[in-house]
Amino acid sequence: MAKLTHRPALLERLPARVVRLLREIGRLGDERGCRVYVVGGVVRDLLLGHATLDLDLSVEGDGIAFARAVADRYRTGLAVFERFATARLVFPDGLKMDIATTRRESYAQPALLPTVESASIEEDLYRRDFTINALAMQLNPGQFGRLLDVYGGRRDLRARTIRVLHAGSFQDDPTRIFRAIRFEQRFGFRLERETLRLLAQAAATNLIQQLSGPRLQNEILLLFAEQDPVRAIARLAQLNLFRFLHRRLSYPTSVRRVVTAVPRAFAWWARRFPDAVIDRPIVYVMALSSESSPAVIAAIIKRLACSREQATKMSAGGKQVDRILKRLTDRGALRPSQVYRLLADLPDEALVLLLAKQVSRQQGTRLNLLRRYLVAYMTNRTIKTSLMGRDLQAMGLKPGPQYKTILGKLLDARIDGVVTSEAEERAFVQKRLGVLGDC
Ligand code: CTP
Repeated sequence: MAKLTHRPALLERLPARVVRLLREIGRLGDERGCRVYVVGGVVRDLLLGHATLDLDLSVEGDGIAFARAVADRYRTGLAVFERFATARLVFPDGLKMDIATTRRESYAQPALLPTVESASIEEDLYRRDFTINALAMQLNPGQFGRLLDVYGGRRDLRARTIRVLHAGSFQDDPTRIFRAIRFEQRFGFRLERETLRLLAQAAATNLIQQLSGPRLQNEILLLFAEQDPVRAIARLAQLNLFRFLHRRLSYPTSVRRVVTAVPRAFAWWARRFPDAVIDRPIVYVMALSSESSPAVIAAIIKRLACSREQATKMSAGGKQVDRILKRLTDRGALRPSQVYRLLADLPDEALVLLLAKQVSRQQGTRLNLLRRYLVAYMTNRTIKTSLMGRDLQAMGLKPGPQYKTILGKLLDARIDGVVTSEAEERAFVQKRLGVLGDC
C-alpha cells in the first residue's frame, strides 16, 4: 500500500516563483482530470534539505498532451520525445522541466533502451533506479505536497543507503552501476549490502560493454563532474570498472597519485586563471589515462564516442605530458620563448594535467618553477608580433616557408623581450634578411 504523507511545507522550500508555478500546474491537472507529481531527484533533494531546480514531473494520463497544455499556457520552448512519452519544456526565465507519462518499462534486451507503456504512479516509481529516487509529491490542489513513498525511500535516506528496487535493476540498465557510485559518493551514503552484491555481480559481466558510446560517456563524465570525483574513481577501480574504458587501463599507485592531485591543480588554476575555463571531467579522464600509450588513449576516445574537441584534449594527455614536464623542470631556467614553444600546442586541460603530475611528485621547488612558467606562459601566449607576412613582403622578402621561420623567431624575440616595438621588429627582421642575403 502506498504511504502518503502530507508535506506541503517541503515543496515550499523551492523558490516562490517555482512553488507558484507548481501549484498552477497542479490546478491544470485537476482541470484536465489527471494526477500530477513531481518525482525523483527534486523530492530526494528536498528531503535531504537541498532545493534542486531540475524538475521532473510525471502525469497519470497523457503526459505529452499535458506538456503541450503547459507549454501553451506559459509560452515555453517544447521538445517532445514520443517514443519515451516525455517532453522537455524550457520556460522563458530559463527554468527547465521534464514532463512524462507515468509508465512501466520493459527491457527487450539488457542494456538497451526500454519500451514504455503507460501505468500507475506506483508502477512508474517501481521502474526507477534506487529507492531514494523512487519518491513523488503530488501537485493537485488539496493534495499539494503529498509525499508518495511506496518503496522505503525516506527510510533509506535516513539510513544513508542506496538500494535498488529489484534484483534485475542493474541488468535492465547498467548505467545504474555508475549512478549508484555517483549518488553514494555525492551524499556520502553506502550501498546497501544486497545492492552492492548485485552491482558487483552485474559489473563482473560484460553488460557495460553493451552500452553505447554516448551512454557510457554520459555516465563517466557525469561521475567525473561531481564535486569530488576522486573517491568515485577509487570505487570504480575497486570494482574493476576501468576495463570498460580499455582492457589495459588499470589504477596503479602512480596514476592514483595524479588523480588525487587533480583537485589541487584545479584549485590553483581557478585562483590564477579564473577566465580560462577547464573541462574538468575530461581532465580526470586524462589523469586516468596519463600513463597510457597513444593507442590506448585512441581506443578510449573511440569507446566513449568522444567529440573531436574532447578527442583533441584527451590525445594531448598520456606519456607526452611527462616528456614536456621533464624538459620544463629538469634543466636550468628556460627562456620564456622556450616555455612557450613547449606548451603552445597543448589545450588548457593538458596544462592542468601537467600541474597535477608535478603536484603528485611532491617536489616543491620544481612545482614552484612550473607554476611560474605557467603564469608567464598564460600571459605570453596572448603576445602577437606587429609585423605579418605582408610586411615581410613589403620589405622585399619573397613569400615562402622562411616567412614562418622569421615570424616564429620574431615572436620568440617579442616573448623574451628582445624586441618591444614595431620599429625594433623591423630592425630584427632587417638584420635576419641581411643574414639570409649574405648566405
Ligand atoms: N532514473 C532511473 N534510472 C536511470 C536514470 C534515471 O530510474 N538510469 C530515474 C530516477 O528516478 C531519477 C530520475 O529518473 O531520480 C531522473 O533522472 P536524473 O535527472 O538523471 O537523476 P536525478 O535523480 O535528478 O539526479 P541528479 O541529481 O544527478 O540530476
